[in-house]
Amino acid sequence: MTDLLLLPGDGIGPEVTAQVRRVATHLANDLSIEERPFGGCSFDLSGTPLTDEVLAEAKAAKAVLMGAVGGPKWASVPRHLRPEAALLGLRSGMQVFANLRPAFCFPSLADASTLKREVVEGLDLIIIRELTGGVYFGQPRGVEDLPGGGKRGVDTQVYTTAEIERVGRVAFELARGRRNKVTSAEKSNVMETGQLWRDVVTELHRREYPDVELEHQLADNTAMQLVKRPLQFDVILTDNLFGDILSDEAAQLTGGLGLLPSAALGEPGKPGLYEPIHGSAPDIAGKGIANPLAAILSFEMALRWSLDRADLADTLFAAVNRALEKGARTPDLGGSMTTVEMADALLAEL
Ligand code: IPM
Ligand code: MG
Repeated sequence: MTDLLLLPGDGIGPEVTAQVRRVATHLANDLSIEERPFGGCSFDLSGTPLTDEVLAEAKAAKAVLMGAVGGPKWASVPRHLRPEAALLGLRSGMQVFANLRPAFCFPSLADASTLKREVVEGLDLIIIRELTGGVYFGQPRGVEDLPGGGKRGVDTQVYTTAEIERVGRVAFELARGRRNKVTSAEKSNVMETGQLWRDVVTELHRREYPDVELEHQLADNTAMQLVKRPLQFDVILTDNLFGDILSDEAAQLTGGLGLLPSAALGEPGKPGLYEPIHGSAPDIAGKGIANPLAAILSFEMALRWSLDRADLADTLFAAVNRALEKGARTPDLGGSMTTVEMADALLAEL
């Protein structure tokens, strides 16, 4: 059985996953690692961004680590064959419904944020984004021609009690091991799914997690609170679309997307899917200057959540912190190190 399946993907994906491989080999050379094409490069090779074989291997691995997908090269490919469709297909095929997106501020990087140091110093929050439902997958969807000319585009936002409960449990369980607070974000003031979300979370809390502090916020207010007073948050529980938006915003609080990992988990015992939050960054792809830390910290999460090596995860996290303290910086953090030099600095700490 493969321990870690690497899907480097497109853009800067291959550059950063190559550094994950170096770190993984150094830290745990007993891990079996495989690598497969995925996204745009898979489309170029075989006409589909996610082959049945790769999906089957992903479901059979212990952990899957994806680099990045997409780019201008595939912008005119039909939507169901685009690299992004492969990612949605992988998430839904692996049934990884809970996406953990931490945003923490490394002390040495508090000045890298566009917000004032005193607003972000000590930041340590995690967004739990529902990942296999909502408007990303709801039916019907499509664009149709209208008889009188013009078109009509439809996306459907849909959630069931069971979908909200299972992701809600992940948030409450996680909060218990942290600062014991969950902020649930939706739009119950205008959306039916938002009202259902609020009702189900309220009931789940009353029934199973009364010891955890629960706050409800409207998602637009959460967007504002994130830049106004981000230290109020511990665990933010939200749906697929709001989670997509709020997690980019939260990432910028920490000085940028180049540092932040994510984990997508399903039922216990099933493989997790790990991805850096950044995209394929076509503007810098191939230049060797992408920050590999988001991908490396995604591997750190894989060690913790899927590979049962929390000890190694702690070691790796501490080494990242030390490398940053000593001034290791790629251009996104205001420095001039290359991707490889950043990984070298980390390996030196390990
Ligand atoms: C993310 C990305 C993806 C998403 C895209 C690439 C499909 O923005 O993981 O946040 O929208 O979920
Ligand atoms: Mg996103």
